[in-house]
Amino acid sequence: MYLRDYNYLVNQSCLFAFNIWNIDSAMAVMDAAASEKQNVILQTSTNIYERLKPVPIREFITTYSNKLGIKTWLHLDHCKNMELLFDAVDSGWDSVMFDGSALLLNENVKLTNKAAEYAHSKNILLEAEIGQFHGTEEDICVLNEQIARREDIDYFSKNTDVDMIAVAFGNAHGQYKAPPILHYDLVEYTTNKINVPFVVHGGTGMSQDSITRLMSINGVKKINVSTEVKLAYRQGIINAENGGLLQENKFQAINVEDKIHDAIVSLVCSKLKMCRW
Ligand code: 13P
Repeated sequence: MYLRDYNYLVNQSCLFAFNIWNIDSAMAVMDAAASEKQNVILQTSTNIYERLKPVPIREFITTYSNKLGIKTWLHLDHCKNMELLFDAVDSGWDSVMFDGSALLLNENVKLTNKAAEYAHSKNILLEAEIGQFHGTEEDICVLNEQIARREDIDYFSKNTDVDMIAVAFGNAHGQYKAPPILHYDLVEYTTNKINVPFVVHGGTGMSQDSITRLMSINGVKKINVSTEVKLAYRQGIINAENGGLLQENKFQAINVEDKIHDAIVSLVCSKLKMCRW
């Protein structure tokens, strides 16, 4: 296979992908992965990508991950903007997601192929999406539940050349208000039709049973967690407040940073342990 690290990804049992927003959050996730002796995917939303310096963060992640002795991929999540997607490809990110899920199916297919062609020309992996996840992931707010339709999966499988596929199967971004009804049969259907790594979105709050069942399906290779990483950051600030570290006479920025780092490490370790259940 010509794509960078594609076989490595396919041969992994399953990886977690955590959203990051700067070097510190990236470092916390990688520290956790190293302490669990696991490889990991770091990803940014497109909003965050626009605020980052993509090349320096790419370089930092490569250097730091080598130092820790783990493998770390860097992914652009849910990108609807073709220019931005091309920019991430040019900046050396390992994979990019074109999110055409809000488009008509044939338009989604057309633009997915355009994104794939560019990504593949630079040996970068392309993730695509069928059906819409509801919930909120920054600017992505889908109100109606839209489980992917089997005929759309069939059409997509015949007409696109993608490296990873995400399908709405009852999952959602953000906190689940009630345990989600996940259509595992649709995941199996997809992995049988489209023989590339399957990406599970909406990992926040998914139970151990759901994760275990998803991971047992051949082809499920990536589970995304975003909301819980941000909540861990918030918890770190609460821990700093409870420890009196925000009092003016005790305040040192680095001590607050440490609390945030520890809270993210703790969350990521707990998620990574779910892989070993
Ligand atoms: P959560 O925010 O629900 O963890 O979803 C993350 C995600 O799927 C990002 O694409």
